[in-house]
Amino acid sequence: MEWKDFELTGRVAVVTGSSRGIGKAIALRFAKAGANLAICSRHMQELEEVAKEIRSYGRKCLPVEANVGQRQGIESFFAKVFESYSQINILVNNLGINPKLSFLIDTEESVWDRVMETNLKGYLLASQIAGRNMRDHGGGNIINISSFGGIQPARGGGAYCISKAGVNMLTKVMAQEMARDNIRVNAICPGLIRTEFSRVLWEDPKNLSYRVENSAMRRIGEPEEVAGMALYLAADASSFVTGDVLLVTGGRI
Ligand SMILES: NC(=O)c1ccc[n+]([C@@H]2O[C@H](COP(=O)([O-])OP(=O)(O)OC[C@H]3O[C@@H](n4cnc5c(N)ncnc54)[C@H](OP(=O)(O)O)[C@@H]3O)[C@@H](O)[C@H]2O)c1
Repeated sequence: MEWKDFELTGRVAVVTGSSRGIGKAIALRFAKAGANLAICSRHMQELEEVAKEIRSYGRKCLPVEANVGQRQGIESFFAKVFESYSQINILVNNLGINPKLSFLIDTEESVWDRVMETNLKGYLLASQIAGRNMRDHGGGNIINISSFGGIQPARGGGAYCISKAGVNMLTKVMAQEMARDNIRVNAICPGLIRTEFSRVLWEDPKNLSYRVENSAMRRIGEPEEVAGMALYLAADASSFVTGDVLLVTGGRI
């Protein structure tokens, strides 16, 4: 193993939901490792800031305003990606939502459907589009951002946890099926990471201290600490890793 096995020089990486949080950290980490990027979110101004930083590392970046929570947005995002890049090497399915906490017995059907459409079907649809391009070009790499909640149940987070458990199995089945096309597929399950998405969890002192006490490292994680695992999975350093679900939790119990 050499340092170049952790480099992504000249590769094209697509990261969904990448104007802030974990997606942004992954996009910047990949750019520093040599990749050219396509990034998306629903607000162009924040995306442009990320694109500017990526270009400052000497990489290309295509920022696209798109709602990738549903099929039409996913398709129009990739249509734009393919106008700029003929080949995708890496896809990071990162966009996930958890719009409403409720016990499953009271979860509205519309909330369940939205969570499943974005978190699970969205990952499938994006992987199909990117995967066909990767297959046509001799291989590629798909990384699904899942959650510790996909392994460990959380009361009130049922639809989210079930969608992420689905992402873990989607990862395993796709890896089995895509290995013959030289495409690796893996998932990352972060614990609590300091982002907007999880603000409600870490801003509440009682909740924060519960989380911290249940973690070996006695702290929550930062988005860049998930990006390190994503870089390992995207690079050749992980050439024998596929169908695996890797945890980044600081030792959560
Ligand atoms: N943070 C945690 O503690 C944690 C733990 C485990 C797993 N995760 C997973 O990590 C992933 C990223 O979460 P995060 O914490 O980084 O979230 P975040 O900080 O809220 O960032 C979400 C990103 O996605 C964009 N986005 C939201 N809805 C979108 C849509 N419909 N279409 C396109 N872009 C959209 C947001 O920009 P706009 O709002 O401008 O569109 C933003 O760039 C999710 O899959 C989540 O389940 C997070």
